[in-house]
Amino acid sequence: MVKSGSLFALVTVVLVAVAVSGSDARRASRRRPCCVQVTSRNMSAEVVGETYREQAAGSPCVKAVIFHTNDGPLCADPIAQWVMDLAANMTKMLKHHSL
Ligand SMILES: *[C@@H]1O[C@H](CO)[C@@H](O)[C@H](O)[C@H]1NC(C)=O
Ligand SMILES: *[C@@H]1O[C@H](CO)[C@@H](O)[C@H](O)[C@H]1NC(C)=O
Repeated sequence: MVKSGSLFALVTVVLVAVAVSGSDARRASRRRPCCVQVTSRNMSAEVVGETYREQAAGSPCVKAVIFHTNDGPLCADPIAQWVMDLAANMTKMLKHHSL
């Protein structure tokens, strides 16, 4: 019973966190855009530069590897093979969740 009680507490905390970020979503997304979807299509040819970033998941943002292209940031699927191949040759930049 202790176990299900703490699970309930955890679920409650998660719901509160989503509600807070939801009410802040408009302001937050303007100040800190993030990847809300990723591509798994091989975009290697478009990628420029020697660095990439990782974005953690957090509603509405999804887990992503962010590369640079001449058209701006590219949100890529972290588990796609081409993403792992490309990232392995690059320097990972430590940064926040914004693009
Ligand atoms: C992705 O495309 C590049 C060429 O644009 C190619 O060299 C590479 O092998 C491809 N990677 C995969 C995993 O298909
Ligand atoms: C990574 O770098 C190695 C050595 O420079 C090179 O042979 C390989 O083709 C590169 N892979 C990708 C995906 O760029």
